[in-house]
Amino acid sequence: MEKETRREFLEKIFVRVAGLSALALTLLNIAKYIYPKISPPKLRKVLIAKEGEIAPGEAKEINFGGELLFLVNLGKEYKVFSGTCTHLGCKVRWEGHKQRFFCPCHKGIFSSDGKVISGPPPRPLDEFKVEVDREFVYMWIEEKQSGRTI
Ligand code: FES
Repeated sequence: MEKETRREFLEKIFVRVAGLSALALTLLNIAKYIYPKISPPKLRKVLIAKEGEIAPGEAKEINFGGELLFLVNLGKEYKVFSGTCTHLGCKVRWEGHKQRFFCPCHKGIFSSDGKVISGPPPRPLDEFKVEVDREFVYMWIEEKQSGRTI
């Protein structure tokens, strides 16, 4: 049996360390892919109305950086909904006399609290968190959208 030289011994050690390092890096990247680091979105409070500005049962259209939103006074609370239909993205309109949102594209109908009443929309209107602070009504939006102005 041949005796291993110092050089051969060091080469073996180097190959094993390199192999283990490559394996560790691969496992680390797989773990990062499976469990991505998700940080919660930064939210910002935006003033959208004065309390009492909208009578109970009525809604106000808001143009937020080109996006249509609706602030609805449901009597006991305010809600803010996206004006984009959840079916194929048409703009809905508020029908105050019927207390509902109507999408003219495929006759989708949503209740005043954004739920689907009839038609093809697969889910309720997207909703934004609302807060009433003193006599002002605010909505909360993600920071990346907050560069927009009403
Ligand atoms: S896009 Fe609104 S019902 Fe189809």
